Amino acid sequence: MSGVIRLTFVSTNPGKAREVREILAPYGIRVHWRRRRLPEPQADDLSTVVRSKLAAVKDIPGNVLVEDSGLFIDSLAGFPGVYSAHFLSAWGFGPMLELLRRRARDAEFRAAAGLRVGSRTRIFTGTVRGTIAPRARGTAGFGYDPIFVPHGWTKTFAQVPPAAKNRLSHRSRAVRKVGEYLARRTTTS
Ligand code: IMP
Repeated sequence: MSGVIRLTFVSTNPGKAREVREILAPYGIRVHWRRRRLPEPQADDLSTVVRSKLAAVKDIPGNVLVEDSGLFIDSLAGFPGVYSAHFLSAWGFGPMLELLRRRARDAEFRAAAGLRVGSRTRIFTGTVRGTIAPRARGTAGFGYDPIFVPHGWTKTFAQVPPAAKNRLSHRSRAVRKVGEYLARRTTTS
């Protein structure tokens, strides 16, 4: 790999920025976090939201990355999905855990990462399946981490070190594709 690749990650979420930085470091990518609130249109899929976020960062030079993600619960028809951030800040975990007392607890986290390199834009996606724990456990991470148990685990994302979450999270699966794409472009150009 030749030299350092620089990338600006635009988000208001420090937890996402920390993860993106760690996930991309092995690719020789240095991430600069730019804190900016981006428009989130009413849409039921993450890629549509990511496209509008990409349109809102046109003024930022160089390689730019944006991301949209959410928790999709099967028995709630995918809710809270694209409304995950809003639902959590308005209600916390309580109503969701109550709703799930008599429903199946299967869920998935999804992430869509939007990359702009030169005049090209690309969207990369990642998911991780799991279940919603009956109560919150752990203090690491952010958002719904204390109630999400990935398949094959007994602990929530909030009960493990960041590196363990980054091995299989939705965000790492999407953002590693960004790393591979950028590293490949750099070595072949
Ligand atoms: P947005 O992408 O800014 O719309 O926000 C996504 C929201 O989904 C976050 O604020 C969290 O509530 C939730 N979320 C997305 N990814 C994760 C994760 O890795 N852990 C926990 N919660 C997440």
